[in-house]
Amino acid sequence: DVFGALRTPGEGAFIAGHRGDRAAAPENTMPAFELAMASEMDFVETDVQLTSDGVPVLFHDVDLKRTTNGRGRVAEHTAAQIATLDAGSWYGSVYAGTRIPTLEEFFATLRTSHKKALVELKFGWSPDQLRGVIDAIERHDLRSRVVLQSFSIETLLNLQAVAPTYPRIMLVRELSADPVPMAKRFGVIGVATTARSVAAAPGAVNLLHEAGFGVICYTLNTQETWAEVRQLGIDGIITDTPSELDSWLAAT
Ligand code: G3P
Ligand code: CA
Repeated sequence: DVFGALRTPGEGAFIAGHRGDRAAAPENTMPAFELAMASEMDFVETDVQLTSDGVPVLFHDVDLKRTTNGRGRVAEHTAAQIATLDAGSWYGSVYAGTRIPTLEEFFATLRTSHKKALVELKFGWSPDQLRGVIDAIERHDLRSRVVLQSFSIETLLNLQAVAPTYPRIMLVRELSADPVPMAKRFGVIGVATTARSVAAAPGAVNLLHEAGFGVICYTLNTQETWAEVRQLGIDGIITDTPSELDSWLAAT
């Protein structure tokens, strides 16, 4: 059980709040993380990208437009510029002035909770940039509570070179017929993919499990998809609607 150390004892699939509790507060902000950390969920999921001066900040989109009062790409702004943006007003006036958190701020808060985090490294990260993330995890004593994940092959390979024993997950939009060779090549502990992909490829899920890899689903937001993937014995689910999950669990 590769996720044994990551799970709440006695539980089946772990539950991760996608970008915090984004149904209840603006995604990838401290209010959303604090709600998720105060809930029954095991994990908090978040996205990390680098500012133009190399500071890791928590933000999903390439462009600032959808969830802030800024414009243009995150990667074209300094950390000081990012720190002035309002990442809460789009969601509701009660969150006006909410900032884009840095990874440092997130780790400092995570450290005081008992939760775990799925930290997604967006886009390509160099070995030096990855060393910075691993150093921050170790400085905050979070090695047993933070799992890294990425869609980027470059990032996964660099991570393998820089931190070969660090737990990490490969993100894929579609499962191939046999994802095991790739999972072995990247040295990951598991594969995360869409609920649709899992439902369409139960054979691939079985092969991953037989080879000792975990299988995680994103982003699972309805009782129907939950019931569909649950019977495949998946190891974790990432959801936008964590507060509805208890009733689904009871109903399936
Ligand atoms: O954790 C996996 C999931 O978050 C990947 O999709 O686009 O929401 O980052 P995205
Ligand atoms: Ca993500």
